[in-house]
Amino acid sequence: MSRLIIVSNRVQPPADTAPANQGGLAVALASALREHDGIWCGWSGETTDVFTGDIRMQTAAGVTTATIDLEEQDVEEYYNGFANRTLWPLLHHRTDLAEHEREFAGGYERVNQRFADIFAPLIEGDDLVWVHDYHLFPLGRDLRQLGVRNRIGFFLHTPWPPTQLLLSLPSHRTLVESLFDYDLIGFQTEEWLNNFEHYLSTELGLEPNADGEYRLGERSFRVLACPIGIDGEEFAELSRSPAARYSRYRMKQSATGRDLIVGVDRLDYSKGLEERFLGYERFLANNPEQHSEVFLLQIAPPSRGEVESYQAIRSTLDALSGRINGNYADIDWVPIRYVNQGYPRAKLAGIYRAAKIGLVTPLRDGMNLVAKEYVAAQDPEDPGVLILSRFAGAAAQLKDAVLVNPYSSDDIADGISQALTMRRGERTARWEAMMHNVTTENVAWWLRRFTDALEKRPTTR
Ligand code: G6P
Repeated sequence: MSRLIIVSNRVQPPADTAPANQGGLAVALASALREHDGIWCGWSGETTDVFTGDIRMQTAAGVTTATIDLEEQDVEEYYNGFANRTLWPLLHHRTDLAEHEREFAGGYERVNQRFADIFAPLIEGDDLVWVHDYHLFPLGRDLRQLGVRNRIGFFLHTPWPPTQLLLSLPSHRTLVESLFDYDLIGFQTEEWLNNFEHYLSTELGLEPNADGEYRLGERSFRVLACPIGIDGEEFAELSRSPAARYSRYRMKQSATGRDLIVGVDRLDYSKGLEERFLGYERFLANNPEQHSEVFLLQIAPPSRGEVESYQAIRSTLDALSGRINGNYADIDWVPIRYVNQGYPRAKLAGIYRAAKIGLVTPLRDGMNLVAKEYVAAQDPEDPGVLILSRFAGAAAQLKDAVLVNPYSSDDIADGISQALTMRRGERTARWEAMMHNVTTENVAWWLRRFTDALEKRPTTR
């Protein structure tokens, strides 16, 4: 098996005891690399006054990482700027929030070049190189310019937007053309893949050739829809661990017989938290007999707090949770427990298992691994119900969830009512179907499908 050189912006080695607030990418890559020889390269998350390019190599829990520090200006223009003020909103269909500043684009190019300069020397012989996510679209091109001839794949963890939205990005064509330096491009779902192919067809006039390749001059790639998974069995086991059992026990105790509805998300406008609170408020308004019988625990660790749109969603949620609690709380009951911190995975697993409902309602999400973790953590004898947004990539696989339109308060409210009254037989049947998917289309399956397809690409560079 070839070595795997993974490159992503965020590098976070696995640790069950560390607060889990890193998002799906780090969770999946950590599990994938435990099984595979290789190096995980990226940003340390730290800044330095002057860029030195010094690499910090570490091995923990069977995963070797190579990280570098970036300058403040890099972080501002590349991470807070182009990645999270321009691309993230655009990829999540929020053109209204996307900011287009020249210096962001310049910083993005500079940091991608830095990644290429620093990490290219780590690539050897027949290593497979696998670049992840929207922070690093042009990295393949930069690596090629340095003479890297290995197979290079790219995987996008977010949605790919419809062509009409992508056209609002001034550099859309340069960005897409740079992707031809990859050999394989992976998306979470057929839907995001179709959007990408629509762009190739309408903007570049390209259709796949007989070998299924898209070709631009000498360069070509193949495309693949390859949904990311979790290690379902490992997470199920974690949910039965002493730490998780204790967390479940504590949760049950503090619930005092009430049904728990749980949501766990990075504090991000794409997660539909405002709409979720409004949906829950509608449920309370429609079902007075349920007051004091249920509560919503929303865990939302802050994310990207230097970006204004993230500060705005935080204030909105502070106000909204306060309003709902003010309107509905009783002396011995608070309808929403809203918590702005991350918890270790084992603790979360226990909370998921204690919850009657997992409420996962993003407005748009590449995949959403919380949905899969919620399923994996359930008690097979008496499983809870997953309520899932139809706009999460995970909805294409978890068809037995209660699927809702996250923009509709009524839909969310009805979903909660349906889940609370669902009989055990139906709950079990739905859960079994979902658990089958979570354990078969798991992270090892995802890794193998992508790397097999990448290895099949010819080495003609
Ligand atoms: C999403 C992105 C990842 C990112 C994660 C956490 O899952 O697809 O690339 O790492 O969010 O966001 P952060 O900005 O904290 O890395």
